[in-house]
Amino acid sequence: MKRIITYGTFDTFHWAHMNLLRRARELGDWLAVGLSTDEFNATKGKRSHFDYQERRRILSGVKYVDFIFPESTWEQKRDDILKYKIDVFVIGDDWQGKFDFLSDICQVVYLPRSPDISTSIIKGMMGR
Ligand code: CTP
Repeated sequence: MKRIITYGTFDTFHWAHMNLLRRARELGDWLAVGLSTDEFNATKGKRSHFDYQERRRILSGVKYVDFIFPESTWEQKRDDILKYKIDVFVIGDDWQGKFDFLSDICQVVYLPRSPDISTSIIKGMMGR
């Protein structure tokens, strides 16, 4: 069984999130998602529209997602990958090159971002 991992906030869940999760899951048989906690986002100066539990509830309805766990630090990825016996780390190419340091323990794949949509754009449309 090939095990995949990805990370993100997945706020105001949109089709690019679905597209990313589908392509990630298609790289293997099991997809784990590290979902940023509200406290972790606060350390980045970000505040999501939906809180962790709401984002988790939406994400758990996605058929490509097999497992969700909290992402609360930048440093936890290496431990997560070993703990969940991950084969492939996947993330959008806005992070191109940023996680190459994990390639000693798993394959690192950057998927092309879907154009013209993001949480920031949706929040802008909502006047936030
Ligand atoms: N993603 C994508 N294409 C987009 C937007 C997001 O492939 N147009 C991917 C990101 O690269 C990441 C995942 O979806 O792998 C979760 O992204 P996240 O940062 O939670 O959402 P964004 O919409 O990118 O949020 P923001 O506008 O705050 O950057």
